[in-house]
Amino acid sequence: MAGVSVCVTGAGGYIASWLVKLLLSRGYTVHGTVRDLSDMKTGHLKRLQNAAENLRLFKADLLDYDMMAAAIAGCQGVFHLQMLAPAVTGTTNVLKAASAAKVQRVVVVSSIVAVEINPKGWPEGKVRDENCWSDTEFCRKIKSWYPVAKVIAEEAALEYGRQTGLDVVTLNPGLVFGPQLQPMVNASSQFLIYLLKVRSLHGIFDPSTDTGGPDRVRDKLWHIVDVRDVADALLLIYESPEASGRHICAPHVISVRDLLNLLKSKYPDYTCLTKGPADQMRNKLWHIDDVCDVADALLLLYEVQASGRHICAPHFISAYELLPLLKNMYPDYPCIAE
Ligand SMILES: NC(=O)c1ccc[n+]([C@@H]2O[C@H](COP(=O)([O-])OP(=O)(O)OC[C@H]3O[C@@H](n4cnc5c(N)ncnc54)[C@H](OP(=O)(O)O)[C@@H]3O)[C@@H](O)[C@H]2O)c1
Repeated sequence: MAGVSVCVTGAGGYIASWLVKLLLSRGYTVHGTVRDLSDMKTGHLKRLQNAAENLRLFKADLLDYDMMAAAIAGCQGVFHLQMLAPAVTGTTNVLKAASAAKVQRVVVVSSIVAVEINPKGWPEGKVRDENCWSDTEFCRKIKSWYPVAKVIAEEAALEYGRQTGLDVVTLNPGLVFGPQLQPMVNASSQFLIYLLKVRSLHGIFDPSTDTGGPDRVRDKLWHIVDVRDVADALLLIYESPEASGRHICAPHVISVRDLLNLLKSKYPDYTCLTKGPADQMRNKLWHIDDVCDVADALLLLYEVQASGRHICAPHFISAYELLPLLKNMYPDYPCIAE
């Protein structure tokens, strides 16, 4: 696709990095938006084949319309992958900028969680398809905010398309696994590490074996998909003129028990407890957030005139995972040297 420019939002992320790789390999010129242009966040993109000639990185935050518009200008298509912190405002900024730049198609990444959670009025036993929407009231009741944000952002994107005539299509992937191109662990890969440390699968929980994983896990079925298939699917729906509306992309199912057994057989030597300073540290899970996301959240609350309390802790990391990350980031810092 020489001569065709497309924009990928959140280009340094897990799925986005694979998509950028695929697009570059097909000859597209890619405008990638990132919040941080440092090598740590973008080095893996700059090293991709054809990146030197065909990849332009733009420092842009979703909440800044002008920055997004500058990144999208001159593009024929947009792939919107950024995470949810500013779900609706951010998506609307991208769509408005896409309209202004007269792009031909916008592909928005939603999620299977916007499809399958307790859908209202969906007949028992009927296969859940693209007409099925998760019940946001139910999700709010159980305080499951990620699906709420994905439903709202996806609905807003499709509605914007209907209102303005902009060609908007969405992709709803299951839980995405597979190799990473980016150096930082993303949420779904992080979840695998967490799961591997489970202390009990519907069994007896022994608090003396503090592995840092969940106490116990419900053995339910998960819809999963390989990250490289997600990149293929994104490009396929971008390049297929007949594509419209939503597209579920969740080709495999696996039970948590089978996944856990698979992980354990693949990584038999995975040590949950490390030697050294961490032995003195309780390896509990921390709920964390990036300071920029906190700022986003504050602005969002202000903009939507929200009321009441708002938990802002989208990620979790165990102390044992945080420590090697810090050591890697600050190798010369004396206190954490071996
Ligand atoms: N992974 C899964 O299992 C899965 C499953 C279904 C759907 N999805 C959806 O797929 C999309 C990508 O997921 P992923 O797993 O690839 O996530 P990821 O690796 O965490 O990437 C998310 C990207 O969003 C960027 N971002 C977050 N907030 C931003 C903001 N305010 N302004 C600009 N950029 C911002 C991040 O940039 P920084 O690096 O600067 O933080 C990062 O590049 C998301 O929409 C997610 O909901 C993921």
